[in-house]
Amino acid sequence: MTKKIYIETYGCQMNFSDSEIVLSIMNDSGYQISDSVSEADVVFLNTCSVRDNAEQRVLKRLKQLKSLRAANPGMVVGVLGCMAERMKESLLEEANIGMRIDLVAGPDAYRNLPELIREVESGQKAINVILSTEETYADVTPVRYASNGVSAFISIMRGCENLCSYCVVPGARGKERSRDPETIISEAKELYEQGYREITLLGQNVNSYLWKCHYGGETITFPRIIEKVAGLSPSLRIRFATSHPKDLSDELIETIGSNANICRSIHLPVQSGSNAVLKRMNRKYTVESYMERIAAIRKAIPQCSVTTDIIAGFCGENEEDHRQTLKLMEEAKFDFAYMFRYSERPGTPAERSFTDDVPEDVKKRRLEEIIGLQRKLSHESNKRDTGKVFEVLVEGVSRKSEKNLMGRNSQNKVVVFKDEGWEPGTYVNVKIKECTSATLLGEAVDQPVPLISQSN
Ligand code: 5AD
Ligand code: SF4
Repeated sequence: MTKKIYIETYGCQMNFSDSEIVLSIMNDSGYQISDSVSEADVVFLNTCSVRDNAEQRVLKRLKQLKSLRAANPGMVVGVLGCMAERMKESLLEEANIGMRIDLVAGPDAYRNLPELIREVESGQKAINVILSTEETYADVTPVRYASNGVSAFISIMRGCENLCSYCVVPGARGKERSRDPETIISEAKELYEQGYREITLLGQNVNSYLWKCHYGGETITFPRIIEKVAGLSPSLRIRFATSHPKDLSDELIETIGSNANICRSIHLPVQSGSNAVLKRMNRKYTVESYMERIAAIRKAIPQCSVTTDIIAGFCGENEEDHRQTLKLMEEAKFDFAYMFRYSERPGTPAERSFTDDVPEDVKKRRLEEIIGLQRKLSHESNKRDTGKVFEVLVEGVSRKSEKNLMGRNSQNKVVVFKDEGWEPGTYVNVKIKECTSATLLGEAVDQPVPLISQSN
C-alpha cells in the first residue's frame, strides 16, 4: 500500500516554499500526499524559530501528536526547518519534548529525507542538520499543495549573511547562495502555462541575488532576474520578498517602474525608528537613509505601497526610541506592517552582547501603540484609494460572503467585489467604493486600467 505523507508548515513564505520542495522529494520517493494527519504514515512539522512563541506552538502541536501516535505506533514524526537546525539532537531527547521524535532535518537536508526515513524504519533515530553552501533545490519541481492555482512562490536564493543581531536566520539557514536563473525562468514559465498569474520570488534577502555565469555569459543580479521573469508575459504579475533596506537599489526601483507587471508593492522591514536601536540591531542603515529610500520609491513609483516589519522593545530601547519608531511610521505612511514584541533567541549576537532589559509589560504596551497607529495608517491609506480603479487579480470567493469575490491589486491590497462569474486568475477592473483598515470594497467597472498607468 502506498505510504502517506502529511506536512504542517510554520513561519514564513520561505518555509511554505520549502514544504512544497519536501513534498516533491517525498512524492518522487513513492509517498502520496495526504491532508489528513490521522491517516499519515509520516508526519512532518516544518518549523520556525524566529520568536519563542513560534517554537512554543510547535512544541504544543507535538504534544497533541503524541495521542495520535498512541493510536498509530508506526507513524514517523519528523521536525524540519529552522527549529530542527537550531535545536539539533536535543529534539531527539524524549525527556526534552515530552514525546518521541524520530527524525530531525535542517533546511538543507531535504534531499536526504527518504534515506532518513529508511533509517527510522530500521529502528534508528535519524538526523541531518548539515548546512550547505550550495543547495538551492534548483532541479526540484515543488508540489503546489495548498495553492489557490493563481499565485505561487519561487525560491530564488537561500540563506542570509546580514547578521541582524536579533535574528536566528543566519544560524538556521546558513550562507547565501543563489539559484541558477535558467531553472527559475523555466519554473515560472511552467507555472504560467498551468494558469498561475502571480509569482512571488522569494529569498531572505532577494536583493543579494547574484548569479555569475561560468561560460563568459552575463552576471545576473536581482533586477535582471526579476525583469526576465516579468518578460514571460504581460499578464503574469511578479512580486518579491524580502528586501533589506541597505540593498534596495535605484536600479531595482527603476526596473519596477518600467515593468508594469512587477507589482507596485515593496516590503521593506524597518524594525525600528531609532538610530541607536538600529545600530544595536546591526541593520547597517539609519533612519535618514531608510527615509531616503522611501522617498526614492515614492518619486519613481508614486502608486507603490510600502509595507514593513517592526520590533517593539529591543534591548536598550527607551521611551524616546519608541517615540521615534512611531514618528517614522507616520512619516513613512506604511500601508501595512507586521509587528512583533522582541523575543530573545538563543545563540544570536543580541543574546551574547545585550541584556533583554525592556520589561514584558512595557514591550506589550509599546507594541499595542505601534499596532494602533498602524491600524490608523492602513485605514488612511485605504481611504486614499476610494474612488480609484484598480486591476484586481481574482483569487477566489470572499471568505465572508459567497456572493463576493476576493483578489488583490498590484499594491497587494485585498479587494472584495460582487461575483459576476469571473474565474480565479482573471483580471477585473474594480472601482473602490468603501474600505476598512484591512480591505478595499468595490464594484467591477468597464473602465480600463492600462497596467502602466498604475505607476503614475
Ligand atoms: N524577536 C521579534 N521579532 C523578530 N523578528 C526577527 N527576529 C525577531 C526576534 N528575535 C521579526 C523581524 C523580521 C520578521 C520576519 O520577524 O521583524 O523582519
Ligand atoms: Fe522563516 Fe525565519 Fe521562521 Fe526560519 S526562522 S521559518 S527563515 S521566519
